Amino acid sequence: MPKIVNTHQAEAWNGYEGEHWAENHDRYDAVNAGFNDMLLAAADLSPDDRVLDVGCGNGRISWLMAPHVAHVTGIDLSGPMLARARTTAMGVPNLTFEQGDAQVFPFPPHAFDVAVSRFGVMFFADPVAAFANIRGALRPGGRLAFLSMRDLGDLAEVFAAFGGSPVSTSAETGPLSLSDPAVIDRVLTGAGFTDVTAEAVEADQVWGRDVADATEFLMGWGPVRFALRDASPSTVDGVRDAVAAALAPHAGGDAVRLRGTARLVTARA
Ligand SMILES: C[S@@+](CC[C@H](N)C(=O)[O-])C[C@H]1O[C@@H](n2cnc3c(N)ncnc32)[C@H](O)[C@@H]1O
Repeated sequence: MPKIVNTHQAEAWNGYEGEHWAENHDRYDAVNAGFNDMLLAAADLSPDDRVLDVGCGNGRISWLMAPHVAHVTGIDLSGPMLARARTTAMGVPNLTFEQGDAQVFPFPPHAFDVAVSRFGVMFFADPVAAFANIRGALRPGGRLAFLSMRDLGDLAEVFAAFGGSPVSTSAETGPLSLSDPAVIDRVLTGAGFTDVTAEAVEADQVWGRDVADATEFLMGWGPVRFALRDASPSTVDGVRDAVAAALAPHAGGDAVRLRGTARLVTARA
């Protein structure tokens, strides 16, 4: 495998976290699907485009783009998620996947017209270096379009059940590291991109069929499992009840929906 510098991320996404995402690929797609159309519109795809999907995970966005472009390459750290992506993509001729660290992966220079990511670019230890590497993979004038988390949205209410968020809310590292437009601009400009835009967007996220289903899914999510790793069974039961109570007001019809917020970012190489 090519060089990895984001070793902690590689461990997480090749361990429990990645396995949970791969096993529950449909459920994670239900969480994030509300953002798909806005990301694909921002990517402004053409039939001749060669597209790079950064942090492609289970490959849903790669798979959605493939019929509309010349070729899609998905890159991800996670073996379990790429296995899922390859299974879904079987028989799709213009869709391939690479396992590697997008921060340092030796992409062929200027090989892509567009780089896209749905929530796969917030985890780089050195974001300027990572985006410079991605820019080098794009032809001059090529486009970047990605989604990053803006804040916890309605999840903040659910995470109150833990007495503290199980997901890092640090503005420096982790999922919220590209939430601030000033930081996004500094990182992308530092990496050599121009014409940076960072729009605030939001969408409904489906976490389960009903409160019990959504509660079990959330209790199995990697950061939650990690936060509760040393908790006693009675503490875990208490948190589960509190999570269910926090989700209850969001249940309606056939689903539990939480409002999610994101930045929709575009830039030019
Ligand atoms: C929140 S998941 C999103 C996955 C997918 N884009 C989706 O929308 O379902 C983040 C993904 O980024 C990948 N990732 C994190 N850091 C990475 C890196 N340095 N290089 C490549 N992939 C990375 C993870 O393995 C994981 O699949």
